[in-house]
Amino acid sequence: MKIVVVGSGGREHALAHQLVQSPQVERCYCLPGNGGTATLPKTENIALSGDDITGITQFCQGQAIDLVVVGPELPLTLGLADQLRQVGIKVFGPGQVGAQIEASKSWAKALMMAAGVPTAFGETFTNEASAQAYVTQQGAPIVVKADGLAAGKGVVVAMTEAEAQQAITELFSQGFNKVVVEEFLVGQEVSVLALTDGLTVRPLLPAQDHKRIGEGDTGPNTGGMGVYAPAPLATPSLMEQVQKTVLEPTVAELRRRGIDYRGVLYAGLMVGPEGQVKVLEYNCRFGDPETQAILPLLVTPLEEVLLACVEQRLASLPPLQWQSASAVCVVLAAGGYPGAYAKGQVITGIEEARALGALVFHAGTELQAEQLLTAGGRVLGMTALGPDLKTAIAEAYRVLQPIYFEDMYYRRDIGHRALST
Ligand code: AMP
Ligand code: GLY
Repeated sequence: MKIVVVGSGGREHALAHQLVQSPQVERCYCLPGNGGTATLPKTENIALSGDDITGITQFCQGQAIDLVVVGPELPLTLGLADQLRQVGIKVFGPGQVGAQIEASKSWAKALMMAAGVPTAFGETFTNEASAQAYVTQQGAPIVVKADGLAAGKGVVVAMTEAEAQQAITELFSQGFNKVVVEEFLVGQEVSVLALTDGLTVRPLLPAQDHKRIGEGDTGPNTGGMGVYAPAPLATPSLMEQVQKTVLEPTVAELRRRGIDYRGVLYAGLMVGPEGQVKVLEYNCRFGDPETQAILPLLVTPLEEVLLACVEQRLASLPPLQWQSASAVCVVLAAGGYPGAYAKGQVITGIEEARALGALVFHAGTELQAEQLLTAGGRVLGMTALGPDLKTAIAEAYRVLQPIYFEDMYYRRDIGHRALST
């Protein structure tokens, strides 16, 4: 099989790494890939970016690609999957209409309401004054969300009315023409990434991300600073609740609307104090860094699972096999991230970390004249496995020790909350 992975982050490195383990996969092209995918066996980086729909389609046709796996949301929202399907290429990822589940918070909210999926109560506004009036009526805390892709910066959890009003003003002035204002939910967050072929839906192991930059979940939001899987918070009975009240009704509602959704349905969930689950958001793709912790635990060959979704035969696929272990991924970031940070710093210690047992997933790196340099805010994801969560956490922090680049920053408390509860 010849496979294409679209994207350039840690998630895509983890996808490609998992795919090339299988003897069935003879070639993997990463578009455009990064410094990590450049060194994977059977793998080649191709300088095509995710938004180059025509270029990607032509490449896949020219190489007779058997399966395309789309990492990020942007190409999906631009219709890459529709375009590839139109020319007969198999693609894992929803079309443009289905991708709205992530790209439009108001669309997703309406879909959840129609499907009876538990979520925060919310209203959509197309003008600033009515959104402000609603905040005054509801009071704080309250949550304001931009209705569009905002690279993780479109959500403000406002503790005061003034903060919410300011967020609304800012979002409209930034050019968003819709905002969703919703009820503030309390509880613990868990990510359930599910695979669907549009008919059947199956969850992967539940994971917990750490979105804030600072230890103890403080400071600004980031793309994700670390993650562990499986998350003990998501007990078998909670997963059953998620399957019945969230995943199945959502897929049924997508189908009822005539949307052929084959890919990841990623539910960001809040588990309330009484164990009730509500959806905070949906994404139309694998999570980053969730993928870097979940996939290393998967025993079933990944391409078999993805093909079963694409060929709409997920119902007859045997249950997914998982290692009975825990995985932890700690993200090493450039100092200053998620604000301004330096690029082009030399990274050392990767081979030494590997020798200690680390799975090193590159996020923002590039290979220049044989030298590995930082090229993004989140630079590396360091994953380690252990027989239980406590051991996996200790392992992840042990195996990252050899890595060095100037102003490297990472959280030292990944997974600690799960140990203390
Ligand atoms: P989202 O991009 O919708 O996942 O929102 C980003 C983060 O904002 C989530 O991971 C939560 O921590 C927080 N958040 C979003 N919606 C709510 C809500 N209704 N209540 C409390 N926190 C929320
Ligand atoms: N880790 C959060 C996300 O992928 O959206």
